[in-house]
This record gives sequence, C-alpha cells and structure tokens, in this order.
Amino acid sequence: MKVLSVASEAYPLVKTGGLADVVGALPQALTTHGIATTTLLPGVPAVLNATAGRAVHSWRDLLGGGPARLLCGEIGGHPLLALDAPAFFERDGGLYGDRSGADWPDNWRRFAALARAAADIASGNVKGLSFDILHAHDWQAALAPAYLRYGASPTKSVVTIHNIAFQGRFGREIFADLGLPQEAWSIDGVEYYGGVGYLKAGLQAADAVTTVSPTYAQEILRPEFGMGLEGLIAQRAKSVSGIVNGIDRAIWSPEHDVALPARYSSRTLARRATNKRAVEHEFSLEPGDGPIFTVVSRLTWQKGMDVLAECVDELVQMGGRLAMLGSGDAGLEEAFVRAAERYPGRIGVRIGYDEPLSHLLQGGADAIVIPSRFEPCGLTQLYGLAYGCVPIVARTGGLADTIIDANIAAVDAQVATGVQFGEVSRDGLLHALRRACELYADRARWLCLQRCGMKADFSWGRSGAAYAALYRGLINT
Ligand code: ADP
Ligand code: GLC
Repeated sequence: MKVLSVASEAYPLVKTGGLADVVGALPQALTTHGIATTTLLPGVPAVLNATAGRAVHSWRDLLGGGPARLLCGEIGGHPLLALDAPAFFERDGGLYGDRSGADWPDNWRRFAALARAAADIASGNVKGLSFDILHAHDWQAALAPAYLRYGASPTKSVVTIHNIAFQGRFGREIFADLGLPQEAWSIDGVEYYGGVGYLKAGLQAADAVTTVSPTYAQEILRPEFGMGLEGLIAQRAKSVSGIVNGIDRAIWSPEHDVALPARYSSRTLARRATNKRAVEHEFSLEPGDGPIFTVVSRLTWQKGMDVLAECVDELVQMGGRLAMLGSGDAGLEEAFVRAAERYPGRIGVRIGYDEPLSHLLQGGADAIVIPSRFEPCGLTQLYGLAYGCVPIVARTGGLADTIIDANIAAVDAQVATGVQFGEVSRDGLLHALRRACELYADRARWLCLQRCGMKADFSWGRSGAAYAALYRGLINT
C-alpha cells in the first residue's frame, strides 16, 4: 500500500513542534506493516536541500503563486516530495510568519497550494506517482481531502488533528481564489462561520479523521475543547478515532543519545548525575539536594505556562530548581526571565529553540512539568518517560492517556510513572509540585517511578499498527 503523507513540518528537516516529530516518524513505523509512505512538504530551503533538484512535475501557475515544481528527495530514508514554489516558501523568516512573529498574510494561499499539489499527486495527475491514501496533517494540509472530494477523485483520505485550536480560518473573499467549484461554498463544504475553514473542510471531506490520543478524541466533542468544531466532530463520530503518538527510539534513547555527556539505561540511572551537573552548568544553577524541574515547551496559554509563572516562588521555597527552555508569548517569556533574575542560581531560563539542549534537559533534569490546559497528545512527557525525567502533568488529552499517577497504591504496585493533577490552577499545580518533591525525597520510590516510566512502551509499534489498520479499512470499503 502507498500513502502520501502531507504536512507543513517533518523532523529533521523542518520543525516547530510535535507535529514534525510525528510526521517524521510515521513512515518508518508503517514499513513493518507493508506500507510505503512518501512525505510531501513545502519547499523551504532545508527541504529543498534534501532533494537532488530533479523535477518530476511542474505547474505553470500553482494557485496564483506562479510556477512550481515537484522535487524528489529523501527524509529519514523514505521518499520525500518537496513543493518548490519560491514565491510561497523561499522567504526570510519562519515557516508560518515573519521575524516579528506575525503570520504571513498569504498563509491561506501558501497552504492551499500545498493541499492542491497533494490532491493532484494523490489523484494520479502526476506521471509516475500513484497512491492509495492521502494522509493530511493539521489545517495546513486539510484542504487536500476537499480538493479530492470536489475533483471526484476515488483516492481515500485521512485527516489527523494534532491541535484543533489551530484551524486555518480565513475570510470569505479568498474562496474565489481556491479553485474549488461553487458547490464547495456550503455548510457541508468549506464554509465556516461565514468564512473559509481549512480544518473544517478537511474534517468534512476526509474518509477518516484521527486525533493523536483517544482522550482528546472524546474531549473535542465538548465546546471547551472543540473550539467551534464540536458539532462537526459529533456528526462524524463514526469516522473519528484517537491513536496515541509514539516516539522515535532511534532519536530518543538515553542509551545512545549523543547530546548527553553520560548515556545510561534504567539499570545505570546513577550516571544521570553527570547530566544533572551539565544542566546546572548550562543554566547557572547552584548545586542542591532538591529536584531540578524542567520545561521544554512553547510558552503559551495552552501549555499552562501562565500558571507555572504564578508558582515559581513556591517552587523555589520547596527546595526545587527550574531549568526552562522555550519560546512563545512575549509576556510569558518576560515573566520567566524576570523570575530567573529574582532567583539566580535557582531558576535558569533559555529563551529559544535548541534541539540538543532539549535532549540534555530530559537526560539530566529530575522532572518535566507539563501543566497544559489541553494537550492533544504531547511528546515531551513521553520523552520524559524514556529518559527517567518524571512527568508532572495535567490530566487532559494525551497526558491523561500516557501517564499513570503516583498515588501510593500505584507506586507500591510499581505501575506509577508520573504525577497527575486535575485542575490547571495555581493550587492544583502547587499540590502536584509538592507531591513530586515528597516523592523525590523518598529515593526508593522515586527510582521506582523512573524505572516504571522507562519500561513503558511508547515506541511506534502499536500506533503504527493502528494507522495501518485504519488505512486498510478504508481501502477495503
Ligand atoms: P506541541 O507540538 O504542542 O508544541 P509536543 O509536546 O507534542 O507539543 O511537542 C513539542 C516538541 O517540540 C517536542 O519534540 C519538544 O522537545 C520540542 N520543543 C518544544 N520547545 C522546544 C525548544 N524551545 N527547544 C527545543 N525543542 C523544543
Ligand atoms: C500538536 C499538539 C501536541 C501533539 C503534537 C503532535 O502540536 O499540541 O499535543 O503531541 O501536535 O501530534
């Protein structure tokens, strides 16, 4: 079976978050099930560099953006297609916006073009390429199933929602430029609250919809999580399922991680002490007996970072230290930078994006704090599990599905893997941090938590099989 996976990001070529990790890992996870995946990405410079520059197809004018070409390459040992559309993707700035952080004003056209190209390829309009399934990830790719539907293509499609908060909503005036027939302008087409909704269009048109955890699939039926799409999700409930993300053990294994000064396994956890010293050094933290909490995250409201900012004084009073790596909302960045100034030696903050440092933090800090208000899946808690960096998480979405709370019974039964808390509030998080400090002080229990987490299997085995079964089900109907 051949699958065309289309997304705006894929590790290691272009990444701003977990979407990239998942899109980058899926092709390998699917090979054992006899599925060959080709990944289509926007031709940003790093993606173009992974191609041999040979064009297999060209468009004279792709959705009003001028000439575009399709180039072949490789990503993680699997086929890559890069959409080389210079007017759209060769820009000085970020994938989604300029250096000031403002979205590119033509994002609607850039990602409609990506989707249009995906649909052309998946419906057999590109010589030499054929696919059984088009798998579109998030709003940036979600128009692709709509193009298939209105082009009457028989190719089956799947949309995966990695985050329903990002929907790709644009004004009605763009409709005329999307190259869709007039009939698509309807409530069961692409129209969404008077404008055009890309994710909405994909959810409506796809043969199957997945979310990245079972709990999130249920949560988005409720208005506080569905963000306006809960009605459509309910309407399509028979076609919606949740498949939890895995992690790529070739990249995230403490035994082989080159970003770690000391590599270790669950039997050699004492070696983590070397990495902890490295974390202290990197973040100018004073040595101490208490735990080092870490954060590796977008600094946003979704991630509950405002709540953590309210807890830093107590975190220090409890004897904890904080090593934070992240970037995001300017106000939150500033709040944490100021906290680090107030508590030199106890709080260290690195604003930015640094892949190797994220590995060091997982391999050297004691616990990773993830107080998300909603979390479709979350990967950093899974990396934390694999690295013995105990996750402290809000009970939502994929965090609820992947972490077993360390109540006394669960610790004693040797099944607990982290600390969960219910309400994302200052009190809720403080309670969880206190519990973590108490557990940390009990060395035997803490070691047990670390070991149980490291034993938990969140590699792609089961989830790869679930995607394979989903694809097969679509082809056989
Ligand atoms: P989301 O995709 O919602 O941001 P996930 O937990 O699914 O959250 O994935 C986040 C990914 O981005 C992880 O691979 C994490 O390690 C990485 N990441 C987040 N912030 C940073 C950062 N500042 N530096 C390096 N990696 C980061
Ligand atoms: C999104 C979600 C995150 C998920 C990631 C990969 O960015 O916010 O929870 O882990 O996608 O699926």
